[in-house]
Amino acid sequence: MPRMVLQEILNMKDNEQKVDLLAIDDISEKLSEIVDWAIRIKNDDEALYDFKPLDGMSVGSIYEKPSTRTRVSFEVGVNRLGGQPITLLSGDLQLGKSETIADTASVLSRYLDCITYRCFGHDDVMELAKHSTIPVINALSDLHHPCQAAADMMTIVENSDRVNGHVAWVGDGNNVLHDLALGCAILGLDIKFATPVGFEPDPDIIMRAQKIAERSGSKIEGCNSAEDAVTDAGVIYTDVFVSMGEEHLDGKMSSFDGFQVNEELVAKADESYIFMHCLPAHRGDEVTDGVIDSQNSVVFDQAENRMWAQMSILTLLCNEAAWQTYWELR
Ligand code: CP
Ligand code: NVA
Repeated sequence: MPRMVLQEILNMKDNEQKVDLLAIDDISEKLSEIVDWAIRIKNDDEALYDFKPLDGMSVGSIYEKPSTRTRVSFEVGVNRLGGQPITLLSGDLQLGKSETIADTASVLSRYLDCITYRCFGHDDVMELAKHSTIPVINALSDLHHPCQAAADMMTIVENSDRVNGHVAWVGDGNNVLHDLALGCAILGLDIKFATPVGFEPDPDIIMRAQKIAERSGSKIEGCNSAEDAVTDAGVIYTDVFVSMGEEHLDGKMSSFDGFQVNEELVAKADESYIFMHCLPAHRGDEVTDGVIDSQNSVVFDQAENRMWAQMSILTLLCNEAAWQTYWELR
């Protein structure tokens, strides 16, 4: 990209109206472009060196739960976009001890250009967004994981030439499934999820996905049989059976007999299926080594794509003019 054009892009910052990303359907209309933009920047070596749309900006990331992928991909992604990443571990903050979420939001809005927040209850990230004057990105709550879904959609699009069949989810009806279902609905992909009885996803979120699917023409279906879900699937996706914050639920694991993604189960899928997992994986529980280490597994591409998808989202939310201009130029 010519430098003069880049300079013009960098001078155009328009943050008059902030957009928050609390669930993936907050950016429904842009999701397809966000994915395409992420794929383009991933494959554009020149842009990696010259495109700095977050120049002069700071992005703060609050973590109340551990993280490997989200933390590192945000830190590296913000840095590559020319911004300053600031990781804020909850143990070091006043938040949750002597200061409210609302006051924290007001204060951080005076220093930062964007906040990412990994929290327990989804209400907490909603409260932070309500009182912030800058964009807030949900970096995982008990109900939603939109950054994961953006990377998941990117990974499915990247593999579209070998995906012949629906997306099958096998496991817990959790935060990752919620945004995966919404993401599939937005992009017009069929999804069939299998969960044990009593561990179905939130019905209101599934209804939201089904409403979106009515417009995009996709099917969002649930069942309680792993075999039903994976038969003829083009994508098989699973996640841990016990999420962060649920460790106290004694005996939850025992409800997942028959929901392990193993060699016998995946044999029912389309032969060129891709295996996906948001990671971290509990090998031997929800997935066997044989499946996650197979040729069909794209889990490490998926992990890498967290960074590219988040770079696309950050640029859109923090400097839409640069996002738009880069998009039009490429
Ligand atoms: N998938 C994901 O969010 O991973 P981390 O918990 O390591 O951030
Ligand atoms: N469902 C998991 C996802 C981890 C990335 C959790 O919330 O712990």
